[in-house]
Amino acid sequence: MILEEMKIKNFRNYDSLEINLSPGINILYGNNGQGKTNLLESIYVLGLTKSHRSFIDNNLIKKNEVMSKLEGKVKKNSLSSHLEIILNKSSKKLKLDCKDIHKVSEYISLMNIIIFYPEDLELVKASPVVRRRFLNVEISQIDSGYLELINQYNKVLKIRNTYLKDPKNKEYLSIITDHLIEIASSIYVIRKKFIDRINEYIEPIFFNLSTLSNFQLFYKTSIVIDDFRKEHIKELLEQKFLEMYDQELKYKITLIGPHKDDIEFQMNGENIKNYGSQGQQRMAVLAIKLSEIEILKKYKKENPILLLDDVFSELDDERKNSLLNYIQDGIQTIITTTDLKNINKSILKKAKIFNVQSGKIIEKGE
Ligand SMILES: Nc1ncnc2c1ncn2[C@@H]1O[C@H](COP(=O)(O)OP(=O)(O)OP(=O)(O)O)[C@@H](O)[C@H]1O
Ligand SMILES: [Mg+2]
Repeated sequence: MILEEMKIKNFRNYDSLEINLSPGINILYGNNGQGKTNLLESIYVLGLTKSHRSFIDNNLIKKNEVMSKLEGKVKKNSLSSHLEIILNKSSKKLKLDCKDIHKVSEYISLMNIIIFYPEDLELVKASPVVRRRFLNVEISQIDSGYLELINQYNKVLKIRNTYLKDPKNKEYLSIITDHLIEIASSIYVIRKKFIDRINEYIEPIFFNLSTLSNFQLFYKTSIVIDDFRKEHIKELLEQKFLEMYDQELKYKITLIGPHKDDIEFQMNGENIKNYGSQGQQRMAVLAIKLSEIEILKKYKKENPILLLDDVFSELDDERKNSLLNYIQDGIQTIITTTDLKNINKSILKKAKIFNVQSGKIIEKGE
């Protein structure tokens, strides 16, 4: 998948910008605060409708403006499509080839993006909600029905929680619970499949980066699930909800389900969050993302677009080379750096290089 052209209007510190990208490596360099990350962010938002670093969409619109527009020409298996997203202060509009797309879930799987950025370490360190968000974003790029399922789950969960606060009719609770169980069991199956797929690739990748073995992701669910077939999970949940009934009424909240999920990054069976070094944690995140590239290649028959925000300054030479081995594999890559010295000469030779200065871009050599 290649993003051939990107058009930006009133996004962050950009007024208006048009950029033609190379199908290979693109480098954005410039001083701090010039708009390098903003440009990567615009590509991320174009593909995934949300920012990787801000939960508030209004921050994305240029100060003192009321709307922002991003457009991209994406080429997939020699077919071109035109993606467009319009952000207003209170709404978002998505378009494919000038036609409105009403479901985010349909739009989000059109463009596959993997991003590496300095705050990635949060994935290991932060609370489970960050890891659940990661699962949701990544899985919805592969499975277009998944996001719909999550939205449904959140709706039913909210109804159930409201009901638990003021339960009147036991029969009604039972109907909502059955509905929740149906959706929950599907989510468990899909998340487990995704984690298993990552685990198919991650061990050798992590070993390449760190020379450490026995690295796996572990799917940590709020109930012990020993068999991830849907019918089995449904039975298990039915039984657990019965057992939890009094407790749920006491706490007035749903105590089990995928909204409590977590993933552990385990090295030799231990959680890397508690005992891995900072560098090992960074390698772990890198290995997950590199495994995702393999998953997208295998299951979507498509290379994702790679966005690397300032990662080269944080990696030692060996790590840089491991990462470069992956990106040379015909994957369109957009790299930001404050200093071209951080990037190998062999890469610079092949790359299209852009200088970023206060929301303007000049192609080097022009
Ligand atoms: N909504 C907005 N409207 C106008 N300007 C904005 C908006 N949001 C952020 N900015 C400006 O964008 C600039 C930051 O851009 P960006 O994060 O892309 O920098 P960068 O080039 O990646 O820098 P660094 O090398 O420090 O990471 C800041 O000057 C900030 O004030
Ligand atoms: Mg930046």
